[in-house]
Amino acid sequence: MKIGCLGAGGMAKALAGKWAATHEVMLSGRDADKTRAVAEAVGASAGTAQEAAAFGDAVVLATRWEDVFTAIDAAGGPDAFAEKIVIGINNPVSIDTFLTTRDDGQSLT
Ligand SMILES: NC(=O)c1ccc[n+]([C@@H]2O[C@H](COP(=O)([O-])OP(=O)(O)OC[C@H]3O[C@@H](n4cnc5c(N)ncnc54)[C@H](OP(=O)(O)O)[C@@H]3O)[C@@H](O)[C@H]2O)c1
Repeated sequence: MKIGCLGAGGMAKALAGKWAATHEVMLSGRDADKTRAVAEAVGASAGTAQEAAAFGDAVVLATRWEDVFTAIDAAGGPDAFAEKIVIGINNPVSIDTFLTTRDDGQSLT
């Protein structure tokens, strides 16, 4: 399977490091050099958010929750995810307290 990833931080690196053994993975982040370095370290490729969304049969939202909708826009908006499996791993928590920022108990995506 082809897996695109919006984000190239800690979680993207950890997940891609496992998935790249049996799947094709493309990471994307805001800093192209940083993204390429992470991708090379785990055997994935690197691209833009638009490229990663287009690449994946499945697309992982691996930014901080505050950045998810900006990343979706950067990927080309909701239409870029049509017919794809979308996996949201984002915990809507405050980075200071690790408590949820939502009062309805729901996840972000
Ligand atoms: N479900 C779980 O078990 C679990 C466990 C741990 C964490 N999480 C969640 O996983 C998510 C990622 O955590 P993390 O520790 O990997 O965070 P992180 O290390 O801060 O990585 C976030 C990544 O997103 C990138 N990014 C930000 N805005 C972007 C955009 N507009 N387009 C493309 N990429 C963008 C960042 O790029 P820059 O380097 O340019 O900032 C960075 O590469 C968080 O939402 C966290 O809550 C879930």
